[in-house]
Amino acid sequence: ASLLPYNTFGIAAQSKYLTTVTSEDELGSVLADASFQSIDKLLLGGGSNVLFTADFEGLVILNRMGGITLTGQDQDHIYLRVGAGEVWHDFVMYCVENGYAGIENLSLIPGTVGAAPMQNIGAYGVEVKEVIESVEAMSVSEGTKRVFSSSECQFGYRDSIFKRELKGQYMITAVNFRLNKHPNLKLTYGDIEKILDQRPDSERSIRAVSEAVIAIRQSKLPDPAVIGNAGSFFKNPEISNSQFETLKAQYPTLPGYPLPGGAGVKVPAGWLIEQSGWKGYREGSIGVHDKQALVLVHFGGGTGAAIKNLSERIQASVSQKFGIALSPEVNFIG
Ligand code: EPU
Repeated sequence: ASLLPYNTFGIAAQSKYLTTVTSEDELGSVLADASFQSIDKLLLGGGSNVLFTADFEGLVILNRMGGITLTGQDQDHIYLRVGAGEVWHDFVMYCVENGYAGIENLSLIPGTVGAAPMQNIGAYGVEVKEVIESVEAMSVSEGTKRVFSSSECQFGYRDSIFKRELKGQYMITAVNFRLNKHPNLKLTYGDIEKILDQRPDSERSIRAVSEAVIAIRQSKLPDPAVIGNAGSFFKNPEISNSQFETLKAQYPTLPGYPLPGGAGVKVPAGWLIEQSGWKGYREGSIGVHDKQALVLVHFGGGTGAAIKNLSERIQASVSQKFGIALSPEVNFIG
């Protein structure tokens, strides 16, 4: 089957088999199916963080498990169980409409709810781990259910146990969230404060933050429905304090965000890539976004292998110029 409609990069890779699941029972049956026992399986949500570098010689399972259920509340919190196949941004809008605070800064991130814990999505000063109580998943080999507490998920920057030790072993079926009844607006990230400053106090709401984030994202990031992309292609690298100081002396405009506990500095990969001359670079059907160098783009008709090759040339030039190794944030498949 063609995977073109199922990855935001818009790569026309093929999978040997493709099926859709809308419930845990359906997923259980697919995993138990003897004819699929020995082949590779890939659970796809929105396909917004993958790059198919070749055809996938296995079974792609499209996760369309829906449902938002209120499971409890106390004085300060609302507890929601959300099916992994729900569209992330629709869920954010649902929370904004209902006054459930905590994920408004994560507006307009492509993908599904189930993909959010996988790489601990984050933007504008908020990471999804802050509102996750637990993650429900199914073992691919056993078909059994397991609930991972937030600490068992081992969340890190764009990272979780599902990307590391348990890679490929569990499929996320639902996420349990703990949202706040009393918003604690996070405005510190650059332009949000600037946009909200122009508004009276009465209008400083989670809705206003969500609108600001949407405006910022639309101004910098390409809409995957128009230009193929998977958001940030690389993670922002963390370097030592001494390396940062050495580089800062040579490149005074280098931005840096100190890590907690003085454990080094995170620097924006987009800046490093732009300074290495790649911003707006185009090579036929692929290239580097002209408004945000951290995003690789596909204009149609290109291959994942070509994009991977471009990403390696970018890594090489950043490494040569700054002595910093960039690691991909996107998952390569194939
Ligand atoms: N910058 C440049 N040139 C560029 C791009 C960025 O100089 O072409 C500089 C900016 O001037 C700014 C700094 O880099 O000083 C940071 O840029 P930006 O605010 O656009 O954020 P980012 O660090 O590039 C990260 C996340 C994004 C997230 C934004 C906002 C990662 C890998 N990326 O990008 O997440 O939306 O912060 O919080 O951490 C994603 O994961 O797919 C994603 C889009």
